[in-house]
Amino acid sequence: MLILGIETSCDETALAIVEGRQGKLRVLKNVVASQIKIHQKYGGVIPEVAARQHAEIIAPLLKKTLGRKKPDVIAVTAGPGLAIALLVGIEVGRTLSYLWEKPLVKVNHLAGHIYANWLIGRTEIRFPILCLVVSGGHTELVLMTDHLKYKVLGRTRDDAAGECFDKVAKILGLPYPGGPPISRLARLGNQKKIAFPRPMLSEDNFDFSFSGLKTAVLYYVKGHASADLSAALRQDICASFEQAVVDVLVSKTLRAAKKYRVKTVMLGGGVAANHHLRSALAKAVRDDSPNTKYQIPDTKYTTDNAAMIAAAGYFQTLKKDFTDWRELEINPQMKLA
Ligand code: KG4
Ligand code: ZN
Repeated sequence: MLILGIETSCDETALAIVEGRQGKLRVLKNVVASQIKIHQKYGGVIPEVAARQHAEIIAPLLKKTLGRKKPDVIAVTAGPGLAIALLVGIEVGRTLSYLWEKPLVKVNHLAGHIYANWLIGRTEIRFPILCLVVSGGHTELVLMTDHLKYKVLGRTRDDAAGECFDKVAKILGLPYPGGPPISRLARLGNQKKIAFPRPMLSEDNFDFSFSGLKTAVLYYVKGHASADLSAALRQDICASFEQAVVDVLVSKTLRAAKKYRVKTVMLGGGVAANHHLRSALAKAVRDDSPNTKYQIPDTKYTTDNAAMIAAAGYFQTLKKDFTDWRELEINPQMKLA
């Protein structure tokens, strides 16, 4: 079965063709047109600009992605995301479904981030699964007892982890998106140099909060504003900040993994590209729960892409979870469960 994935929820216009056979997936084509250069001028994503850009390039991008292939199913992101950006993908999906008379699958963007873990195409992944979804807009700990069965154990009460990276980058004068430049500088710094707070670390729940951490970085930087921050101090700020985020994410994930006796711990979302998070969680799972398997997506499928949308679409197709093209609508606040 060939699945066309369509993703336009934020600032990447993404299309992909994924082949699904007997529960295994193979990415045949994965095209991502990033708008980062355009949004960098503004220091963040402007929804109208994003939507216009999606609309301008999606048709030629579709031609490039499809070649001579005609998919059996169309999977499109319906939310969560920017309403006006989502609309572009939805309209393309609806049009193709009508013209080709092919079924349409309505995919939750966060389910896509989770299903990026199935794009590796080899191992059997065992349930129950705990997935830490960390992106620019979301930080959620999700329990899956079976395919497409989600229970959100906790989420951020304010900023998402990726949003916190982006805001701290802005404070330090680094470009948008902030995750990659911060993690590059963090590798050169001392993570023990500054004792930034670990918000909600010891609270007995699975929720997160990152806005206080961002404010702590802001005050620290303001306190050193009389002299320009030296290159070494900037590296130490990045390393200490990244360590604080990783400590909270790893500790809560591990606690949830034990409580729910999961067989697999997974990562998903843009922040899952972070090397330190990937390796710190790997070590924590290995040391603390040696019988639990640790599964992470290939870094190219952590940030927004459409292969992950097609992956979720494949498993929804197996359950015949289709939406008629006349009824497909965006849902900017769409929830996993
Ligand atoms: O999943 P994604 O591409 O878009 C959303 O669904 O939001 O995630 C983008 C987020 C941005 O906040 C970006 O700063 C963050 O992922 N990010 C990273 C890294 N690469 C991207 N954060 C930390 N370390 C990274 N290496
Ligand atoms: Zn995303």
